[in-house]
Amino acid sequence: PPITLPEPAPLDGPPLERPQGCPFDPPAELAGIRESRPLRRMRYPDGHLGWFATGHSAVRAILADRRFSSRYELMHFPVALPGLTTLPPAPLGDMTGIDPPEHTRYRRLLAGKFTVRRMRALTARVEEITADHLDAMEREGPGLDLVTAYAHPVPALMICELLGVPEAERAEFRRRAATVGDGSASVEDQYAALAALTEFVRELVTVKRAAPTDDLLSDLTTTELTEDELAGIGSFLLSAGLDTTANMIGLGAFALLSHPAQAAALRSDPGLADQAVEELLRYLSIAHTGMRAALEDVEVDGTLIKAGETVTLSLQAANRDPDRFPEPDALDLRRGATGHVAFGHGIHQCLGQQLARVELRVALPALFTRFPTLRLAVPPEEVPTRGPMSLYGVHRLPVTWDVVA
Ligand code: HEM
Repeated sequence: PPITLPEPAPLDGPPLERPQGCPFDPPAELAGIRESRPLRRMRYPDGHLGWFATGHSAVRAILADRRFSSRYELMHFPVALPGLTTLPPAPLGDMTGIDPPEHTRYRRLLAGKFTVRRMRALTARVEEITADHLDAMEREGPGLDLVTAYAHPVPALMICELLGVPEAERAEFRRRAATVGDGSASVEDQYAALAALTEFVRELVTVKRAAPTDDLLSDLTTTELTEDELAGIGSFLLSAGLDTTANMIGLGAFALLSHPAQAAALRSDPGLADQAVEELLRYLSIAHTGMRAALEDVEVDGTLIKAGETVTLSLQAANRDPDRFPEPDALDLRRGATGHVAFGHGIHQCLGQQLARVELRVALPALFTRFPTLRLAVPPEEVPTRGPMSLYGVHRLPVTWDVVA
């Protein structure tokens, strides 16, 4: 008869501490948890007995299954949130926290606006914007923070390009967006900042309706979307596309600086950029965790998840699953890392992934080609990382380089 291993004890929450010494590896306990059960019982701070998914196959299966909901208000939270036991429903325009058919309507309206033509035009713009910022770095000279000088402003300007935020308003937009993405701010402050950002977009919508320009927000004003929906969607896009891409550029540069042979390969072979970006997305998994709640009883890889139970999905553990990626903890730009879940999977898979790829494929190789001697200006352990924040990355990346006469 088949041997059934005894059910391991439920976990007490997901591991949060990253290992000392390697700022790119997920918490060390994840590998053991995935080995014990890729889908394992976990106790939530409110007493709920739910699940923790770490295996690539289980994570993909749950993300692809419509019987799992994304509605925030159905989730038990895997970590204790000060002053909050449940989350409010998603604010208008936040597509990640709603289910079909509401989700399908937004997704269709928006997907039709992320056109090939628009992405091509944005590629030309990201080339100009990165070149401008690299020129400015050269003028300023060695010894600066790469996040402030490059990793943050490039995606911020690209999001402004996408939505059509006028030049004069861009500084104001960046000020308001900063708090929305600040995971160290309280939940209340983040909601307040989102409300302020939404007001900013609402005013922009009025301007675009009166005088449309060639951008996504102007295009959206010609759809059935109401003023409130436009403001919500616009501000959601502004925040969804900024901190994510900024942290991928910052942490991606840090990873390449820490793996000189890989950086050299990228410099010498421009054709490697596409594969390199996929591998960095997999290896770094900056959006490391997701959540779903079962709407009915569902069997996943032989395990029964009951209606109402919450599953915490470790995207970073799935992307390091040796069953899917051999030698998963090695950064190997030539591996051809397809099938990773760094952009999620299923109906909520990142809508901005083509734009993010365009930005990363240009920004990272351009940085390493322009500054062949680029290196950290502090020991690696002194680079401040974002710790257990919901989006991983670096707060600052002090770098320097040799000036050639
Ligand atoms: C959704 C990651 C860049 C817009 C998602 C999800 C992930 C993700 C993991 C799925 C969330 C879920 O299933 O609950 C990333 C990463 C990025 C990035 C790692 C950068 C490297 C962008 C950009 C934009 C964007 C540049 C927009 C311009 C969105 C939107 C959704 C989304 C609108 C919601 C899609 C839906 O619910 O149907 N992203 N993202 N993202 N992302 Fe991104």
